[in-house]
Amino acid sequence: MNHPKDAKFELLKQEQAGDPGAFQKLMEQEKVPVPDHMASCNHITADDDLSIERYTSQEFFERELSKMWSKTWQFIGREDQIPNAGDHLLYEVGDMSVIVMRGSDGKIRGFHNSCLHRGRALRMTPGHVKELKCPYHGFTWSIDGALASIPCEWDFQHLNKATHDLPEVLVDQWAGFIFINPDEKAGPLLNYLGVMPDHFKDYQFEKAVTLAHVRRRVKGNWKVTQEAFMESMHEHVTHPQLLTFTAESDSQYDCYGDNISRSVTPMALPSPHTRGVIEGRTFYDTLVESGRMATADSDKYSLSEGQTARVSIAELNRQLFAEESGRDLSHVTVAELLDAILYSVFPNTQIWAGYGMNILYRIIPDGHDVDSCIYDVMVFGRNKNGEPPKASAEMTVLSVDQPFSAAPELGALGPVFDQDVRNLDAMAKGLRASKKGAVTLAHYQESRIRHLHETLDKYLNAAE
Ligand code: FES
Ligand SMILES: [Fe+2]
Repeated sequence: MNHPKDAKFELLKQEQAGDPGAFQKLMEQEKVPVPDHMASCNHITADDDLSIERYTSQEFFERELSKMWSKTWQFIGREDQIPNAGDHLLYEVGDMSVIVMRGSDGKIRGFHNSCLHRGRALRMTPGHVKELKCPYHGFTWSIDGALASIPCEWDFQHLNKATHDLPEVLVDQWAGFIFINPDEKAGPLLNYLGVMPDHFKDYQFEKAVTLAHVRRRVKGNWKVTQEAFMESMHEHVTHPQLLTFTAESDSQYDCYGDNISRSVTPMALPSPHTRGVIEGRTFYDTLVESGRMATADSDKYSLSEGQTARVSIAELNRQLFAEESGRDLSHVTVAELLDAILYSVFPNTQIWAGYGMNILYRIIPDGHDVDSCIYDVMVFGRNKNGEPPKASAEMTVLSVDQPFSAAPELGALGPVFDQDVRNLDAMAKGLRASKKGAVTLAHYQESRIRHLHETLDKYLNAAE
């Protein structure tokens, strides 16, 4: 018999299929109680075009830096990435550079990355230090930010030591995620996150461990890159290898308050644009091609007689995620074991919900370059209850010439991101070549993109 991966199917015209109500119909089929946030929808509606200038204008970009990036909570990294005193991360947007350091007391603090002597950056890379000693003349601070020593102190008698601890940046944490806010007067992170802590309360992200972290500079405005992950409509043409197991045009899109939006894409179901995909092919392709199931070992697992791919893979995930985390997951919906449930936190971070193999994307502007950004992808598993935490993966930094598929830790996700990046390169070119001067969004499937711009406008139009 032929291998299921070779089973043929028919591809329908792109115009012909898709159902915004499809996910709620799946919720009605769940055999366990469905959490309220999974059983509801929250749409926004508007249809205006967006000006191309929003993506290409240096003036617009500078206003974003001064009025939005200076005011918002931004994801820095995971607590599990800096487990020991002296471990630190760097976060840079525009001219802002922040060291996020685990102190001797275990507390995580943010410091402006600028020596109080003549201003050299104290750290150029993340890593581990015993103290923060400036590599220029040797002014030194403790890892808690207290001034420790001054070179040739006899020559600095005019310096008031009491005012020369390192200035701090606001840091807050939720579920193991570390955020900073450059605005000293910012409200609490939990308020900013809106519905998210409630929607994520069962997923135990505080026990998450970073299994992979890959960074690459990509060409394109930061919003273009962010938007590449805010709709599933592009799958049909950009990622055709996913159509046998991803019902992209049956996705649900929701927006909550100013800062949170989500999309939910049914998985282990073929695209509504296909006809005749056999369950065996959907089963095989979901395991091997999706890059985020509990296993990609297609030799060890196969579809049982009479079972659907969706239920079989959900049960496999249920079993393997339970083994990984040591949790009882018998009460958990198929959707939360399987589907692509992707939340975004304004302005630049997207986190996949669910019980295992969650992905995070973060897009940071690249200095003052309106046409370049830094793209980070992280993949999370879970630490097991009662066992020592696993070590967090080191960050792999790819050069602009390297594809994401050069990072083996991303598995099947790497080639998918490479397909996305090809669009980003061409977006940077095409937006500048536009005669129309505007982009037109799909009313429903691109509503998260509109939401991003609506929130951005609130910052840009706010009084000083
Ligand atoms: S600039 Fe840092 S010690 Fe001189
Ligand atoms: Fe994509």
